[in-house]
Amino acid sequence: MRSLLKGLDALPGSSADLILAAWSIFLSNSLFDDLADVPVSPGLSHSLVDHTNDVVHLGRLIGAGYRDLDMPAFEPEVLDLILYLHDIDKLLLFQPGPALGTTERSPLSRKIPHGVLAGLLLNELGACESVINVVATHSTDAPFHNESTEALILHYADMAAIDAIKLREGQRPFFQIN
Ligand SMILES: [Fe+2]
Ligand SMILES: [Fe+2]
Repeated sequence: MRSLLKGLDALPGSSADLILAAWSIFLSNSLFDDLADVPVSPGLSHSLVDHTNDVVHLGRLIGAGYRDLDMPAFEPEVLDLILYLHDIDKLLLFQPGPALGTTERSPLSRKIPHGVLAGLLLNELGACESVINVVATHSTDAPFHNESTEALILHYADMAAIDAIKLREGQRPFFQIN
């Protein structure tokens, strides 16, 4: 797992430990054998860990850009945790499909909204409140969103990353005129 998630060695030890613990708990409770086989979404081939690496990369770039604008300050350590952890509950919201190599939504995904399970686990693991709040409400269809700078950065990094992959894999992006 450490080799799949890029850049963990450059993080403070406590952040890397929290990220690895959370990913490991979700993976060991999932129906997947290999993290590299879990897609970012059923029907896409791009993996969840590669998507996470994309969002970390883009989020840091947006964060650097936001420092040049008159944006409320954000904590880089908090932002990094949010970027690495935002989608971990997909490991339980998805499951292997009936055909080899396919993935489908799990029954759990119809019982609890994306982000909430991750927030619950991060609370148990002692993550700070701003990480929990942003991860739990980051989904585009969440009933409300956290209004912190970290939440805004995650949103645009996440959308930029997923739309690039959707276009690359021949799907319609979330960004549409109509
Ligand atoms: Fe998400
Ligand atoms: Fe995401």
